[in-house]
Amino acid sequence: MKRLFQDKVALVTGAGSGIGQAAAFSYAANGAKVIVSDIKDNDTVAKIVAEGGEAYFVKTDVSIALECERLIEETLHKYGKIDIAFNNAGILGETNTLADMSNNGFEKVISVNLNGVFYCMKYEIAAMLKQGSGVIVNTASILGVVGFASFSGYVAAKHGVVGLTQNAAFEYSSKGIRINCVAPGFINTPLLSTMNAKSKEELSLKHPIGRLGEPKEVAALVIWLSSDEASYATGGYYPIDGGYLTS
Ligand SMILES: NC(=O)c1ccc[n+]([C@@H]2O[C@H](COP(=O)([O-])OP(=O)(O)OC[C@H]3O[C@@H](n4cnc5c(N)ncnc54)[C@H](O)[C@@H]3O)[C@@H](O)[C@H]2O)c1
Repeated sequence: MKRLFQDKVALVTGAGSGIGQAAAFSYAANGAKVIVSDIKDNDTVAKIVAEGGEAYFVKTDVSIALECERLIEETLHKYGKIDIAFNNAGILGETNTLADMSNNGFEKVISVNLNGVFYCMKYEIAAMLKQGSGVIVNTASILGVVGFASFSGYVAAKHGVVGLTQNAAFEYSSKGIRINCVAPGFINTPLLSTMNAKSKEELSLKHPIGRLGEPKEVAALVIWLSSDEASYATGGYYPIDGGYLTS
């Protein structure tokens, strides 16, 4: 039986941890060759290979345009094409109310979480246009449509990711490229490592389902959006949030 992503090449940024790593595992388990990209060395490729999959690491800081350009070049050099891109790398960044937020803190989170998505999309779309096809999934957040105290920079960046996703889908859906974003609620990953158990418990209660999400629960949606099963889905904002946005 043909596997979901047989003969496909999937690129994942921020694939060294959390949601990106869970998605990289799922792409590989479904037959894709995976470009694992992250700013840090990590064990994602080794784990995929140990399970019989195929993966290749490209170290990239997505906040630097030249590194994103090189990431796409290396993907094309290694595997000849890029069928799927999951632009997921992100940081929580400085948490402070707006008047107290440092300029550097604000600029840092925008540079990774928003500029990084722009740079990656720019070079991915150029490659996908040449191929005449491609799928892009960006990681936005519930905080791409609502606010959260002390998260100004993060919220601004994620609102920007939603806008970039919609605009790019408007521009390129007629050219064979589907572009969507996922919007996780709070997910149990190292991104939340600065929060103590009490804060996490309080956060859980903001989700009607009564708990934080797990990376593989987000990955399942990313996999569907990346697959041909989602052939009519483009320009969409897809919450996967335990009901957070209902209240
Ligand atoms: N965890 C949550 O509650 C949550 C909720 C909504 C959205 N998100 C988003 O999901 C995405 C993944 O986050 P996660 O929760 O899996 O966190 P994580 O910290 O587990 O993983 C993020 C990965 O991105 C990498 N990274 C950081 N800066 C980078 C850079 N400049 N260039 C390349 N890679 C970089 C990190 O090394 C790490 O491996 C982020 O975009 C985050 O904003 C997370």
